[in-house]
Amino acid sequence: MKDTVFLNNDIEMPLLGLGTYRISGENEMAKAISAAVDSGYRLIDTASSYKNEEAVGRAIARSGVPRSGLFITTKLWNTAQRLNDITGAFQRSLERLHTDYVDLYMIQWPVPGCYLNSWLEICSLLETGRVRAVGVCNFEVRHLEELKSISGIVPAVNQFEYHPLWNRKELVEYCRMNGIQVQASAPLARGGYLDHDVFCVMGTKYACSPAQIGLRWAVQKGISVIPGSSDPRHIRANSDIFNFSIDPEDMELLEKVNENYRCTDIPEDLQDIPF
Ligand SMILES: NC(=O)c1ccc[n+]([C@@H]2O[C@H](COP(=O)([O-])OP(=O)(O)OC[C@H]3O[C@@H](n4cnc5c(N)ncnc54)[C@H](OP(=O)(O)O)[C@@H]3O)[C@@H](O)[C@H]2O)c1
Repeated sequence: MKDTVFLNNDIEMPLLGLGTYRISGENEMAKAISAAVDSGYRLIDTASSYKNEEAVGRAIARSGVPRSGLFITTKLWNTAQRLNDITGAFQRSLERLHTDYVDLYMIQWPVPGCYLNSWLEICSLLETGRVRAVGVCNFEVRHLEELKSISGIVPAVNQFEYHPLWNRKELVEYCRMNGIQVQASAPLARGGYLDHDVFCVMGTKYACSPAQIGLRWAVQKGISVIPGSSDPRHIRANSDIFNFSIDPEDMELLEKVNENYRCTDIPEDLQDIPF
């Protein structure tokens, strides 16, 4: 199957990316990004709140892949939204990443009272040519409907927790109907289904791992995945999902393991990070 998708503004995005949320050390990042590009990953997902943009920037510079061959995503954190410092936060991200532009800039969380203004501000960055596409994370249907009422620009991507244990049917369908590409954060449910019977049995059937079953299930439905890993063996294995396909009856079975299991934090419950 094709391993890229076209976003609603005709930008081509890889379906598979490396999630870097918990990778912080310089060496760890260099090893992870090196393993990723060697295995064919071209999308790297970071965020100012991960405090690793500089390490990402240095690792991609050393990767040997030209900047134009990579798809770099970063995100606007809540503090900058509250301070209405969107342009400043974006500029600081570019500097930390040592790049002139990002391929996708996203609002990381719909901060109440702020996200509509943040959306208008990040849309205006499109005109500068320093952002190729704009998107959101963790937006529910109600948030997306509000964006629609104030802006003519539809988010290119909505990134939210998505995996077989929490399959967000209504939100996925809304995004599909509105031309918003779904990108699965925590597509491995942070390990939550790796010893689940259904995944182990299917892993044996398709001669792959439970992780590969979960990732393949998503990409087979056209959903982008950004599994997080700092382990080169896992990074390589997680990329090996485009050379087999899951039978329709098994895809249906995987739809039924949903248990509305959430593994990621709700940022509003966390201490603010000054980024
Ligand atoms: N927008 C948002 O609000 C948001 C929220 C959460 C995450 N994200 C993004 O989504 C990315 C992915 O989410 P995540 O990292 O939280 O969770 P995840 O991808 O579901 O799981 C990551 C965990 O799975 C392990 N793992 C990876 N591949 C494996 C394999 N093949 N076999 C066994 N274990 C494996 C990793 O450990 P090892 O390092 O040992 O491989 C790590 O502990 C993040 O890195 C971040 O870029 C975005």
